[in-house]
Amino acid sequence: MQAIMAIPVLALAATTAFAQAPDANQARDMAATCANCHGTNGVSRGGTDSLAGRSKDDTASKMRAFKAGTRPGTVMPQLAKGFTDAQIDAMAGWFASQPAK
Ligand code: HEC
Repeated sequence: MQAIMAIPVLALAATTAFAQAPDANQARDMAATCANCHGTNGVSRGGTDSLAGRSKDDTASKMRAFKAGTRPGTVMPQLAKGFTDAQIDAMAGWFASQPAK
């Protein structure tokens, strides 16, 4: 019985830790998943928009609009659905603190 109960408790603990404590490293690690398309630390080298140095509000509101389906896109609407609002805020804040170059 104890072994069976331990699994959901652990899963819940892991999820809430990630969602509730958006410290600098967690925000950076989540933001790293954006680097393939938006460049290292959000400084784009290709055709995709840079995210570095943008206001937190700008990035966060666009992410929420992608998530809500009110902002059109190819990959972002799908991708944005994978993040909570707290995670979006944490990433947007992290990108805002990066030098735009
Ligand atoms: C697979 C490539 C890819 C990844 C990964 C990716 N993006 Fe994007 N992003 C795009 C493309 C392409 C657009 C243009 C809109 C569209 O077609 O969806 C875009 C647009 C955006 C915009 C709006 C830019 C503007 O001003 O119009 C924001 C904000 C954004 N992405 C944030 C993020 C964040 C935050 C992440 C990481 C969680 C991320 N993106 C990961 C490809 C990507």
